[in-house]
Amino acid sequence: NSIEPCDFVLFGSKGDLARRKLLPSLFQLEKANLVHADSRIIGVARQDISPEVNIEEVKASIVEFGGEALCEDTWERFAKKLDYVCVDMKNLDSYTAFKDHVDGSRTMVCYLATPPSIFGDICRGLNHAGVIDSSVRVVLEKPLGHDLKSSKVINDQVAEFFDETQIYRIDHYLGKETVLNLVSLRFANSIFATNWDHNCIDHVQISVAESVGIEGRWGYFDEAGQMRDMVQNHLLQILTLIAMEPPAVLDADSIRDEKLKVLKALRPITAANVQSDTVRGQYVGGFVKGKEVPGYLDEEGANTKSETETFVSLKVHLDNWRWAGVPFYLRTGKRLPSKTSEVVIYFKRQPHNLFGESFAQLPPNKLTIRLQPDEGVEITVMNKVPGLTSSGSMDLQKSRLNLSFSEAFKDDRIADAYEKLLLEVMIGNQALFVRRDEVEQAWTWVDGIFRAWEANNDLPEPYQAGTWGPVASIALLARDNRAWYESR
Ligand code: BG6
Repeated sequence: NSIEPCDFVLFGSKGDLARRKLLPSLFQLEKANLVHADSRIIGVARQDISPEVNIEEVKASIVEFGGEALCEDTWERFAKKLDYVCVDMKNLDSYTAFKDHVDGSRTMVCYLATPPSIFGDICRGLNHAGVIDSSVRVVLEKPLGHDLKSSKVINDQVAEFFDETQIYRIDHYLGKETVLNLVSLRFANSIFATNWDHNCIDHVQISVAESVGIEGRWGYFDEAGQMRDMVQNHLLQILTLIAMEPPAVLDADSIRDEKLKVLKALRPITAANVQSDTVRGQYVGGFVKGKEVPGYLDEEGANTKSETETFVSLKVHLDNWRWAGVPFYLRTGKRLPSKTSEVVIYFKRQPHNLFGESFAQLPPNKLTIRLQPDEGVEITVMNKVPGLTSSGSMDLQKSRLNLSFSEAFKDDRIADAYEKLLLEVMIGNQALFVRRDEVEQAWTWVDGIFRAWEANNDLPEPYQAGTWGPVASIALLARDNRAWYESR
C-alpha cells in the first residue's frame, strides 16, 4: 500500500479535536512527506469564513498545539493543500456547495470530528451531494454511543451509506507506539510467546491514570463517566491485544477476529459479583502535583448531585482456555497522582525456594510495559548480589532490565497516535480501527456492569484528588493477596 492522492475532508475542522490533534498531526505527516502532493485538506464547519481566514486559523492551531517551532518550508507546502467549505451539517441542500471542492479522481476520506448525533446527517448530506462511491472512506470519532442500543443506531445510520470496509472507527490508543508494540513484543519474542498463559502468568494489571480533571468538558463527561469514556474503548482494546491469540497474519480482519474472541470471553459482571469485582469513585478536592484542585462536583458547570464515576477499577476474567483462572485488574481515573499508563504482567512464583530464610517467598518476575510517559519495557529479575558470600547463603536482589524507548531509539521521534492513524486511513488499512462487532461486544459487557450497578443502587465512593482512588480499589486486590503496582 502506498500513499495516494486524497481529498481529506475534515468535518468539525474548527473544533477542539481538529485544532489540538488532527491538524497538527496532518502537518507532521506533511513534514515527513507522507501526504501526496496532489492531496487536499478540506475543512468543513458551519462558520462562513474565507479560505484565507481558514489558512490563518489552521496555522494558529499548528503553532499553538504542534509542540515545536513551525517549519516554514513544510508550512508552505501544507498551506497550498488547504481548502474550506461552509456547510450547515443538518441542512441537506447546503452540501451541494461541497461538490465543487472535491475531485472524483482522488480518494475521499471524510473524518467526522463532530458529535455522533450528526453522523447520520453528514452521511445523508454527502449522499445528497452525490459524492459517495465505494472508494470513499469515513472515519468515526468516539463516543460511539452511550450503550449498545445507541451505538447500533449510530452504526446503522452510517451503514446506510457506507460498507463496513469503508468505515474506520477511531480508538486513538490503537495508534500509540507502545500499544502497537504489544503485538511485536508478544509475537516477535519467543520468551514471551511461550510463557503467555495461565501456566506462567499469575495476573495482569492494566492501569491508565490521568492527573487532569474534566478540562472544561463537564457536560460531555458527566453523560459518559470514566467507564464509557475510557474502559469501554481504550482499556478493553489494550486488554484484547494482551490477551488475543496470535492472528494467522497481520491483516485487519485476522487481528480483529482475534480481538473479538477476547471480548466474547469476558465474563459478565452481574448483580451477583458487581460488589466484589468493581469499584467506582468520584474525586473530591485535593492536591495534584502540589496544586490544589476542586472536586468533581465543584468543577465549573457541575451538577452538584451528579453520581457519575471519575474512577473505575475492575477485576475481570476471561473465560477461555489460555486465561483460565488469571484475573486481569483494570484501573483508570481522573485526578490521580500522575499521568501514567502501564500494563504489568505478574508471572507465577517459583515452585520451590532454594535460597533459604532470607527469602520466605521469592518475589515474582514482572514484565512492565510503560505505555506512557517514559515509554518502555522493563523486566524485574532476581540477581545475585556480587560478593564473596558462600554459595549456601546467596544474597539476592531484585534488579531491573530496562528498555527505555527514549534511550534506545534516540533518533526516532515517537509519533502522536493520530499521525499514525491518519496515515493508515490515507493508505486504506483498517487493522488499527475498531470493527462494528467489537464495539458492540464491548458495549454488551459494559451495559451489564451498568445494569448491575443500578440493581445494587451502587454509588461512586469519594476519593481525594491526587490519590490512587477509593480505598475499596486497594481492597479489590488485597482480598486476593495482591497489590496494585506502584509506578516508579
Ligand atoms: C479520551 C478521553 O478518549 O482519552 C479523555 O475522552 C482522556 O477523557 C483521553 O483524557 C486520554 O488520552 P491520552 O492519549 O491523553 O491518554
